[in-house]
Amino acid sequence: MPLPDGFFLYLGSERIAGRVREMARLIARDSDPERLVVVGILQGAALFCADLARELDGRVRYDFLRLASYGDETTSSGRVRLVHDRQTDVENQDVVLVDDIHDTGLTLRFAAGHMAALGARSVRTAVLLAKGNGRPDHFRAHWIGFEVPRGFYVGYGLDFAGRYRGMPDIYRREPQ
Ligand code: IMP
Ligand code: MG
Repeated sequence: MPLPDGFFLYLGSERIAGRVREMARLIARDSDPERLVVVGILQGAALFCADLARELDGRVRYDFLRLASYGDETTSSGRVRLVHDRQTDVENQDVVLVDDIHDTGLTLRFAAGHMAALGARSVRTAVLLAKGNGRPDHFRAHWIGFEVPRGFYVGYGLDFAGRYRGMPDIYRREPQ
């Protein structure tokens, strides 16, 4: 499949699938399926959420938020906006926020604050990738699939200007 210049295979789909299964087991071990609401952050978390869903108890509920922090660029704009809110009532429920990647943490921090304001009993976070970038706000996800070096990643939900999300493997480009 054609990729923009400078991207190389970083994580293959089988490795991703194995880790997603492990993460689902860890989430299940520490959660009550009756109270669990998994809230994916669109659009990046869609593939990861779908794969988690296949591994978690059937009673678990799923919903999505759509936030925007990135334009078509590869660095954070430093601002997060709620573009589309979830519909599921999270009051007194245990929310697990799911995102594809943790970069500055602004997105997850915003989403966690929103869930808390809606009365969630607990808010935890799961990300497939966490970028080592000297995170300014020291926000750390509860469940991390892979700690990855600085750079830019595409595939398995991660996009570059809206493209490459559907690729089953993850590709990396060196920081520029
Ligand atoms: P944060 O708010 O800086 O943590 O950024 C998180 C959001 O930025 C994620 O939901 C991604 O959509 C996007 N993002 C950050 N790094 C990358 C990347 O390497 N590839 C694609 N999207 C990224
Ligand atoms: Mg995203």
